[in-house]
Amino acid sequence: MNKKRTASGEPPAAGFHPAAVHPEGGRTPESRHAAGSRRSGKELALDGKILEKIKSLRLSGEAEKLAEKFLRDEEVQAMQEYANSVSIVRLKYNDHGPVHMRTVAYNAIIMMDLIRKAGVKTSLESEESGGFEDSLGAVLSGALLHDLGMAIGRQDHELHSAYLAYPILDRIIREVYGMNYQKIAVIRSLALEAISGHMGNRSIYSLEAGIVQIADGCDMKKGRARIPLALAGSPRMGDIHQYSANSIEELTIEQGAEKPISIRVDMSSEVGLFQVEEVLLNKIAAGTAKSYVELYAVLNGGKPKRYL
Ligand SMILES: [Fe+2]
Repeated sequence: MNKKRTASGEPPAAGFHPAAVHPEGGRTPESRHAAGSRRSGKELALDGKILEKIKSLRLSGEAEKLAEKFLRDEEVQAMQEYANSVSIVRLKYNDHGPVHMRTVAYNAIIMMDLIRKAGVKTSLESEESGGFEDSLGAVLSGALLHDLGMAIGRQDHELHSAYLAYPILDRIIREVYGMNYQKIAVIRSLALEAISGHMGNRSIYSLEAGIVQIADGCDMKKGRARIPLALAGSPRMGDIHQYSANSIEELTIEQGAEKPISIRVDMSSEVGLFQVEEVLLNKIAAGTAKSYVELYAVLNGGKPKRYL
């Protein structure tokens, strides 16, 4: 079976200064500002993977065009970078920036492909409000903007994300869909549901929003937590998230044996079970895609523990 893996951040260069640290290749928010908004190597690699994956689905080209516009938009990039600066430098939290949002988009596209291959209809398809490609467009738009609200703060960030995302979402969707007001209405609303519902703390109703929620929970590899761990001074509430994520070696999304999607989390320490049980499992259980997912945790290559 062809395994599809997620991406995550790399460790910072040795000798970095904590105040200047940034999860994409050690580049600082300040140096990015001075250099203009250039994408890091990791961001560009993810852009390539996202566009290649959408192309492989052989759709009409609309979703690919939408993805290209979001990935190349300077305002989106600046907002993703500032959200990350607040998350890491101010809040001492983990990556909520351009690499994370691209990783979530990539995870979500993989899952959308798997449910389509299994013959599962998206909410738009089953409601006859749109096609698979419209669902995909909403999913990738929502994923690429879902954490913009971290620029304001952690509390209720999913709601801050929604109003920060709205003007960009509206502008880019109109660039792609022109005067097709039906598609604009559908994709914009669905993307906003995915953004405002991604934390699993409020009800969502579409399968598309459920996919984004799970895709977000799947970005838990240790690269995402390493920089906040390196920055950590004295112990504080929430450290369990960083320490547990630091033991996640690999996360694999592929076709399941019984259900369309299998998520396997490989870890080097039992503390990683916190990520699976308290973060990912809760998100899956709260969402609309639960019945399509198998979830496994594997400790040091041992016998897989099945949750779903
Ligand atoms: Fe996120």
